[in-house]
Formats: sequence, C-alpha cells, structure tokens
Amino acid sequence: MAIGGKKLSWIRRDFLIGGASALAYMRGVRINAAPRFPDNPFKLGVASGEPTQDGFVLWTRLAPFPFDEMSGMPLEPVVVEWQVSSDEGMSKVVAKGSTIADPTMGHSIHVEVSGLEPHRYYWYQFRTGSEISPKGRTRTLPMAGGSIDAARIGVVSCQKYEDGYFTGFRHLSREDIDLVVHLGDYIYEKKGKFYKTRTHHGGTCYTLEEYRARYAQYKMDADLQAAHAAHPWAVSFDDHEVVNDYAGADEGNSDPTDEMTYRRTAAYQAYYENMPLRRSAIPNGPYIKLFRRLHFGNLLAINILDTRQYRSEQPCYAGKKVERCDEVFDQKAAMLGKAQEKWLYDGLRSSSTRWNTLAQQVIVAPRQLSENRYSMDKWDGYEIPRRRLIGALGDGHVSNPIILSGDNHRHWVAELRSKPEDQETPVIATEYIGGSIASRGDGSEMTNSGRRILKLNPHFKYFCDQRGYLLCTITPAQWRTDYRIMRYVERPGAPIETRISFVTENGRPGAIQV
Ligand SMILES: [Fe+2]
Repeated sequence: MAIGGKKLSWIRRDFLIGGASALAYMRGVRINAAPRFPDNPFKLGVASGEPTQDGFVLWTRLAPFPFDEMSGMPLEPVVVEWQVSSDEGMSKVVAKGSTIADPTMGHSIHVEVSGLEPHRYYWYQFRTGSEISPKGRTRTLPMAGGSIDAARIGVVSCQKYEDGYFTGFRHLSREDIDLVVHLGDYIYEKKGKFYKTRTHHGGTCYTLEEYRARYAQYKMDADLQAAHAAHPWAVSFDDHEVVNDYAGADEGNSDPTDEMTYRRTAAYQAYYENMPLRRSAIPNGPYIKLFRRLHFGNLLAINILDTRQYRSEQPCYAGKKVERCDEVFDQKAAMLGKAQEKWLYDGLRSSSTRWNTLAQQVIVAPRQLSENRYSMDKWDGYEIPRRRLIGALGDGHVSNPIILSGDNHRHWVAELRSKPEDQETPVIATEYIGGSIASRGDGSEMTNSGRRILKLNPHFKYFCDQRGYLLCTITPAQWRTDYRIMRYVERPGAPIETRISFVTENGRPGAIQV
C-alpha cells in the first residue's frame, strides 16, 4: 500500500478485539474485516477533537452513498484501522490500532488515543478494506499546569448551509491555531427550499436517518472537511441540531412516545455519530452529557457549556422578542440546570489558570432590542440564573473570566457588569460574540437594528452583520480577539480580513479596541 511514494505500516489483520467488536461478537454478528465498497467510504472526511495533553479523539463515518439507506453501508460491522504519526508523511507511526464501525452508530468511529507527547502536532489516517482516508492533522494540548506563552483558538458557530458557502472554514483551516471551538448550530433542521443559495437535501429532520443525511450533506462540504482535517475541535450544540428554540427541561421527558423525546433521541444520536466526541458523550436516549472542561497548561481553562438541554421554557410567550414579564424573574427558572451549575461554579472557584473561559451559546449581557423589548431565548429571559452566573464570575475568586457566545449570527463585543443594566457598576467579565459562518447570508456591516441596539446598550462595543469567526490569542498578559470577517458568502471565494480587534488585559475586565 503506498501513498505519495511512502509505504504505510498498517497493522496486520489479526487485530486485537476492542470494546465495540467484543460487543458485536456477543451479539453473534459477523464482523467484516475485509469489506469491499461500491464507492469511496470516506466522503464525509475525517476529524479529531477533545484534545488532552497526551491524546485526542479520531473520527470518521463510513458513507459510500451518504443519502442512501444506511449511507450505502451493509448492515454489518466493519473493521477500520487507524494510525497516528509524528510526521506528515506518515512514516513515524507512534500509535495504531483497529476499531469497529457498527451500523448501530451509523458506521461512525470514535478512537480515543492517549500516551502521546504534549503540545505538538500529529497526523492520522484510516483504512478499511482497501480504502484509505484523507489525512488529518491534530494537536495535543500543553502539559497540565505547565506554563505556556500563548494559546490560539478559533471560535465558530451557525453554519446554515442554505444561506451561504463555508468559505470561512477554508480560511479557518489555514489559521495557526491550537483548537477550534464550535458553539452550536452545526446543522439546521428545516427542509430544503428551492430559492436559497444552496438547498437542504430532503425534508425537515425528525428521524435518525434524516438527521444523519443532514449531517452528511454538511460534512460533504470540502471547506468544512478542510477545517476538520487541519485542527482538533471541541464542539457544543445549540438548538438547530434538534429544532429551533427548543427548551430541554420542559419538552424532553422520558416517554419515548412523546414527539419531542423521540426527536431529541434521534438528533442527539446523530450528533454523537458525527462529532469527534468521547465515549462519555454517548447519548442515553434523549440525554447527552456535553458540558466539560479543557485546560491549556496554567494559562487557560475552557468550560464548554450546554445552555439548551437543561433550560426551562422561555418565559413571556416563549422566545419571542417581547417586554420582560414576571416570568423572567421566576426563582425556579433554569438555564444550565443544577448539576451543570454546580460543576461550573465549583470548577471556576478551584481553577488555577490565568484565564477562565465560558464557551457557550446564547448572549449573556443584557441586550435591549428596542424600547424594553428583549429576546427571551437569551440569558435576558433567565434573570435569576444570570444573577447566579454573575455572582460566581464576579465574587473575586475567578481569574479573568471571558465569555464566548454564538447563536446570534452577528458579531458583537459586550461588557458584563456586576449589575448588568447599571452602567455605574464594575465590569466583571468580557463577552466576545462570534458571528456565523453562513447563517443570514452576505449581510452588511451595519443595520438599523445594530445601530439601535448599540445606542440602547452602551456596554455593547461593536456590531457587524457579516459572516466570519473569532480568532483568540491568549497570553499571560492579554486576551486578544480578532474579528475575522468576509464581505460575502452567497458566492464562493471571499477573502477574509481582521476587521477589528479587541483586547482584555490581565486583571482588567472589559474590551479595549486596538
Ligand atoms: Fe444559528
């Protein structure tokens, strides 16, 4: 077997039997160790994620015909071999093995690699039968507790395929970063419409097969594949991975005949199958545990939050842009849910990193849209949970809190005060809100509502309604956010530019334009 003239040192066929294959044997299912494919099974690309100081997750999903039943795969488990190399030519293999792509997991694989060196690049590749995948590059995190000079992360969200090309991902693939953080809306669930820039395949997603096909359509995009193949990702979801503006706690329950429970079960399953996540995120019916923490030495902790699954229903006519009613101040309202709040606040209190980041979905800072009207889907609809969050961030124990938010499709910068709507109170955290990769299409630099909101909310420092992502460079002295923005996405090939940059200095919450 040769690629680019180099011999590949794939393992022999008498591989060790791992967990998934042992399970398949117990079921009495034949495992196909030498599958043949009618077409390339790697059409959805490769990915890595969940980096630690000594490893990461490697992902792919076999799909020779992604829109067909079972993605064109036979109803049998097949063997996939993997290898990790310390050089791009794949000649210095440092880890290898084999795993099973099982039909119950949509023939996806999630390999948890460990035992590698901290803070360095690795390359990886898969083989099944005689088919070899594209190569991916990934990176381990720095040594836990160790001192490092800088970390760089890309922050993305909201890639409505219908609204534009994924040019932003092509640019992201070329950035010099350690990690991509995805804040949700990886897919959109609605049916295809003929008048959009690109057309969603099929109807609105309800079943596992429909969600699988939607992920497949997104993942066949070459720009998205390039961004996955270039960097490790840490992903979180928002609402559109299931359905617009859903609120977990009220609509999900354990009754499998309930429509929302059925849909959430299908959607979470498809999400897991298509993301480079650890086994700890395998869904249990309509539940999935996604909140978790990553550490970059003693420099940075990233708390990846789930603001969708555990929240109570949006107050005051559920999610609409309305005046705030008494329900906004409901003492029982939930945004993160009890378990996640405890985990977050305990973790923040005991953190010893210089910077402490919340990577989450909806805007935290209060945002008056017009006279007394707010969006109830954001933290604005959840005043009591927000007060608890602000209490935890501002009690003097948390070093340099930074909030990263998505969902809104526009770029913003905001400062969060100890009493959020009182401009006389001190700033306790800085919120960098990334625009979308594609959602809302080309957009424009300024809009009437952008102008109005900036005027009504002086703690908001920047607005832009064009597409792009955030590039964050973190050093012991400073957090810098570059707003990487394109002028169009409704046709391919847009250049990208750093439109504006803000910094937060160590020990001084707030955003300064540079
Ligand atoms: Fe979105």
